[in-house]
This record gives sequence, structure tokens and C-alpha cells, in this order.
Amino acid sequence: MKFEVRQFKRRAFSVLFLLQPFIPEQASTVAGHVDRFYYFMVAISVLLAAAVALLEIYFAIKYRRRAPDEIPRQILGSIKLESLVVVFLFILFTGMFVWGTSLYFTLYRPPREAMEIYVVGKQWMFLFQHPEGAREINELHVPVGRRVKLVMTSQDVIHSFFVPAFRVKSDMLPGRERYTTVWFEATKPGRYRIFCAEYCGTEHSSMGGWATVMEPSEYQAWLTKAGSAAATGMAGGGAGQTMAATGESLFQSLGCANCHSGSALAQCPALTGIFGKTVKLQNGQTATVDESYLRESILNPKAKVVAGYEPVMPAYQNVVSEEQTQQLIAYIRTLAAPKTPSGSGSPEAVSPKK
Ligand code: CUA
Repeated sequence: MKFEVRQFKRRAFSVLFLLQPFIPEQASTVAGHVDRFYYFMVAISVLLAAAVALLEIYFAIKYRRRAPDEIPRQILGSIKLESLVVVFLFILFTGMFVWGTSLYFTLYRPPREAMEIYVVGKQWMFLFQHPEGAREINELHVPVGRRVKLVMTSQDVIHSFFVPAFRVKSDMLPGRERYTTVWFEATKPGRYRIFCAEYCGTEHSSMGGWATVMEPSEYQAWLTKAGSAAATGMAGGGAGQTMAATGESLFQSLGCANCHSGSALAQCPALTGIFGKTVKLQNGQTATVDESYLRESILNPKAKVVAGYEPVMPAYQNVVSEEQTQQLIAYIRTLAAPKTPSGSGSPEAVSPKK
């Protein structure tokens, strides 16, 4: 008997082994958790489906009609059996719900001490901006063993950022919606595929790229190199400048400083220290100043006007790009933390001090 159990276990394991080529590598801290939950759900589904199918066959044979004029014996329900099944299934599926929900919250509530990378999706590419200034297209470089939070938006239609090896997937929403975020912590150096997982037009299938996970020292070296290359490479990025610095020059050149001067007579709210605060709005409601709120207030300022101010600010919807909006936000965030000039998203500011 013991031998049979062992043999069965080995068989079941070899089935998983056969599936291996179809299961992406586990390269993030949550990958194992997601897979365990997934296998559990598959196993429960298979077991319950098999139980129903087998019982069906068994009953069909057992209670088959034996004579043409047979009148079957009436069978009354069994309260005991029925309540047992109901309670069992209730516990089972509630357990799955609780398990799935806690996993969901882990996946979609980024931890505070995470380095941030800004992402813009557009037909048909992913643009990444590192707070330190490095910018890349369809390539994402991250250090191993560090929590990375992606702040994402779309410039045109809905895209979905998907890295199977990290088990992260999140929609990127266009328009006045909001930023979506996702986080992961890569566990081993390597190159992993990035996909767009939302049909977004003719080139959807080719939209994607590679996430490169590097040792922290390599990553630092890469950041420095890529940061200075930003000057010659892509438009919009300052020469070796941090995102916040690029945002600051934008802030000046767009004339934002004229109104957001911080003086008591200013027509617009002062921005120093505003990030993370809760502000009172004209309509009596309140809003937390986060990335999404700042983005809305830049692109469509009349949506949520701070109490005590007139809606005088023009909309920047068609004036600044999504990337520039992110640079402006990176700048405004540094105003919240005067002691860390490179911004709260930089590695210096988030390195654990314990
Ligand atoms: Cu972008 Cu599909």
C-alpha cells in the first residue's frame, strides 16, 4: 500500500514535470506563491470534476432501468449528507477566496520602501524612465533582490504590462483614469520576456521586450552609463539628469513657477511638501496627493480644485506628454522631501536603515 502511494506521488510529479516547458520560470518573490495557489485551484477543479463524473457513471449503472415496467423505489434526501457537502464546499471555496484575496493584496499593494520606475505604454512599445535619468524602450533593467514599483500609464489605448516570470500583470490605462502600479522583487539575474497582454491594435502581438535582472553593482554601473547616454539617445531626457531635474526645467519652461510660486499671494497652491498630503477640495471633498492626483491636476486641473483657489490653471492635456507628466511629478515629489535632493524614488532614499 505504501509503495502504491509513493508510486502515485511520483506519477503526479512527472505530470508536473511534463508541464514544465509551458510554465514560466519563477524569477520573483511572489512567483512561488502564485504557482502554489494556481496548482491548488487546478487540483481542486480536477478532483471535483472527476468526482462528479465518476459518481454520474456509477449512479447511471447502479440505478439503471432493469425492466420495462419497473417503478423505482423513492429515495428521500439525506440532510446529514447534504449539509456535510454544503459545509465542506463552503469552507473549501471560502478558503480559496481568502487565499486569493490575500495574494491579490500582496501583488497590487506596493510596499513603501520600493524603488520606482515610471512606465508609459503606447502603440506599440513600452517606455521606461528611471528616477536617476536613464530611459529605455522595450528594455527594463532592474537590480536583483530589490523591490521595484512600476508606476504606469498609457498614451493611447489600454495596454497590459505582463512579465510571466515575475507573475505580474497590470493594465495600463489611458486618458484621465489614473496610474496603475505593480511591484515585484526579482530573485535571480537573467533576461525575462515582457509582453503586452491586452489587444491594442495591429502590432499588439509584437509589443513587448525584455526585463534584464542584474546584480546591484552591475545595475548601478548600468544606471550611470544609461543616464549619460540619455542625452544623445532619446528626446526629452536631460543630459545625465535625474527625472526630477528634467521635471524641474520643464516646470520652469512651462511657466508653472509663476503661479505655483509658494508665496501667500500666489494664485495657485504651493507645491512644497504637498506629496502624500490630503488636501481639501472646492466641493468639500478631500483628495490624497499621490501620483494619480498630480497627473490629473496637470492634465485636467479643473477636475479637483483645491479649496480657496480659483480654477485658473489651463489644462496641459495636449501640451505635455505622459513622460513629461511623469517628470513633473518626479520633480514635485522631491519638493516633498527637501533632505533627499535626488527624490524619494532614488536608491539612496529607500535603502533600508535598520
Ligand atoms: Cu499594447 Cu497589446
